[in-house]
Amino acid sequence: MSGSIESLPKITVLISGNGSNLQALIDATNKGSLKAEISLVISSSSEAYGLTRASNAGIKTKVHSLNSYYRQLPKTEDAEEKKKLRAKAREDFNTDLLNLILEGKTGNEDPKIIVAGEFVKPQLIVCAGWMLILSKSFLTQLDKRSSIPIINLHPALPGQFEGINAIERSWTAAQAGEVDKTGIMIHKVIPEVDKGDPLLVKELEVIKGESLEKYEARVHAMEHIAIVEGTVKALKTLV
Ligand code: GRF
Repeated sequence: MSGSIESLPKITVLISGNGSNLQALIDATNKGSLKAEISLVISSSSEAYGLTRASNAGIKTKVHSLNSYYRQLPKTEDAEEKKKLRAKAREDFNTDLLNLILEGKTGNEDPKIIVAGEFVKPQLIVCAGWMLILSKSFLTQLDKRSSIPIINLHPALPGQFEGINAIERSWTAAQAGEVDKTGIMIHKVIPEVDKGDPLLVKELEVIKGESLEKYEARVHAMEHIAIVEGTVKALKTLV
């Protein structure tokens, strides 16, 4: 008999899109291969299908959209002023995201959906297809206020193709013979994008002449295994 749900470690998952990696985590908790409870899914987009996946699984969701912060900015033609306002909005977005994760406090753009008292602080944060760069202040404050570990799935090998479009960039380099292997990793999130220490690395062989679509399918299949294994591994490192 597995432990009661109250005793399971709580995970907050950050997503931005389809949520197939979130689905892999949900399926693993249902199968018992991931002994944890996904207590909150935060999406940077209100359009993310991952929100539907979470709701179907009975998991609380919250949209935390950077665009909603930008949309509230006063209009200005002054380029310098606009740059400053957007930088402040991005900072507020990160601050509100941290308070949402640590205290269940929602920002000013949505009615409170996490009732105080129902909120539980996570023991682990998993970025599963989260497409926004988390600010240095977010990460330093997270560490200072909670020391909750935060991990990320990145579809490239350590030191290869940090940043966006990593799958296509890996495929292009492999097909051009510039790299003799590709892969994916689960790594600790640090301010330098996709450069944190890897918890788990899964290599993929290069198949010459393989289409991008076929390569992408191999990557996602491997991601869905790695996201669960990496999360299990991260939970094991909790004190
Ligand atoms: C994955 O390929 C992930 O590596 C990248 O975005 C995709 C997310 O897919 N960051 P999903 O939303 O989990 O289906």
